[in-house]
Amino acid sequence: MDNKPNGEYLVIKAIEDGVNVIGLTRGTDTRFHHSEKLDKGEVMIAQFTEHTSAIKIRGNAKVLTAYGEIESEQKEK
Ligand code: TRP
Repeated sequence: MDNKPNGEYLVIKAIEDGVNVIGLTRGTDTRFHHSEKLDKGEVMIAQFTEHTSAIKIRGNAKVLTAYGEIESEQKEK
């Protein structure tokens, strides 16, 4: 575990199928660079890195950060 970015981690747990975890690029150009689909119960542990400055979560998920815990929700249909 050396020469790795030491950015903070997020823990994301999907509460439903099809949650999307989207990484957005760092720098002047802010765009999606990666999208990961999680099914119910799946957990992703992600870091902010040299390449990733923001993370967008779409769907119902529990998110743990250094600032606390929050739940993302799906827009009412
Ligand atoms: N290659 C990406 C990076 O190093 C991988 C990544 C890190 C990522 N954190 C992420 C992808 C969060 C999606 C969401 O930055």
